[in-house]
Amino acid sequence: MLDLTPDRASLDPIETASRDEISALQLSRMKWSLAHAYENVPHTRAAFDAKGVHPDDLKTLADLSKYPFTTKNDLRDNYPFGMFAVAREKVVRIHASSGTTGKPTVVGYTAGDIDIWSDLVARSIRASGGRPGEIVHVSYGYGLFTGGLGAHYGAERFGCTVVPVSGGMTERQVQLITDFRPQVIMVTPSYMLSILDEFRRQGLDPRESSLKVGIFGAEPWTNSMRSEIEQAFDMHAVDIYGLSEIMGPGVANECVETKDGLHIWEDHFYPEVIDPVTEEVLPDGEIGELVFTTLSKEALPMVRYRTRDLTRLLPGTARSMRRMEKITGRSDDMIILRGVNVFPTQIEEQILKCDGLAPHFQIELTSSGRMDDMTVHVECTAANASEEARTASGKELAHHIKSVVGVTARINVAEPGKVARSEGKAKRVVDNRNRT
Ligand code: DLL
Repeated sequence: MLDLTPDRASLDPIETASRDEISALQLSRMKWSLAHAYENVPHTRAAFDAKGVHPDDLKTLADLSKYPFTTKNDLRDNYPFGMFAVAREKVVRIHASSGTTGKPTVVGYTAGDIDIWSDLVARSIRASGGRPGEIVHVSYGYGLFTGGLGAHYGAERFGCTVVPVSGGMTERQVQLITDFRPQVIMVTPSYMLSILDEFRRQGLDPRESSLKVGIFGAEPWTNSMRSEIEQAFDMHAVDIYGLSEIMGPGVANECVETKDGLHIWEDHFYPEVIDPVTEEVLPDGEIGELVFTTLSKEALPMVRYRTRDLTRLLPGTARSMRRMEKITGRSDDMIILRGVNVFPTQIEEQILKCDGLAPHFQIELTSSGRMDDMTVHVECTAANASEEARTASGKELAHHIKSVVGVTARINVAEPGKVARSEGKAKRVVDNRNRT
């Protein structure tokens, strides 16, 4: 693969600043952000008052641990615009995340917020190995989801030619990639696999495509999946992270030269990792729940927002800003099967070890009596579709899951094309347990 390391001189100065410079900037911005939220968001003022803290109490970055958390429920309780810190007329854009139950979570942006978001996505594309002047194919969904428009504005800001395809119509995605010859694609990793299938169905060699960088995120994916996609397309696969409540895509991004976790753009977002049960802040290096405080957001400042995403903080490498390890999963997606915690990413890793299996999968939970059962629905590859080969692949996968993850799973090795495909975020777990 090509060496796409960006020129050091092209980076924003803060990307290579000293830790002291970064911390000083964070402290002054954090003071502003806490005061802005306290003065303008009734919910935040009430929460600070109830805890007996005031923005003026923040003297060091570590003092942040005294302040109350914000959760998704706080956004729901203040639906739709109650958490905004500016007059509604100053909000130029609304996004919302659907959520599986209840009301959507609504987020808003001022013109200034959109400006910073565009800069940070541009920075993310550069870190991923993109260059101004290139063509960027955006297959993240456009609309209330932040993926499409977030990627779009960032790619334009970076000086790229954007192809705003959005998700779906996979045949057309392949046609446009073939005809327009983009260097960069921005899409969920699971939908990239559907695009890969479509290349093969049309008899095209994906390694001959023009793509040299894929910027994949919006859902958990593993390093094994990275190798699978990189080999299939002869391209770099880089991780982008973000969430609507904090901004959207571009809160953190991997660097193409290291691919060792995602550098958090710490000049705008202050990360903490907490023990989700005791709510204590954990030292860097320990796994827990990621919490973010925004440092510059005007419309929707967030103080200690609990993401539910599980990871750990690591020191900077390719950039001075700290990294977060690739996300294992969300605490909400954790399956507890007969006392063992299982994440879909662990199942993904085991599937990718089996040569006879394709990386499309869904986990179904059912109950028999008082026990829960897990069935992994996965597909065989076209070359391994015989009854015998499928049985052997199923046994191999069951063995890996038992010996590495530590649970017994039923395996259903389906024919190619039989497992539900995603056009955006994949639905990895289907819960058919009887809850009576
Ligand atoms: O998914 C924003 C985004 C769009 C990020 C495009 C990257 C690319 P939400 O719909 O609000 O926003 O969902 C946020 O998705 O809390 C994580 O659980 C998950 N997530 C996002 N990026 C990653 C990633 C967008 N790189 C939620 N790895 C987050 C693992 C991710 N999970």
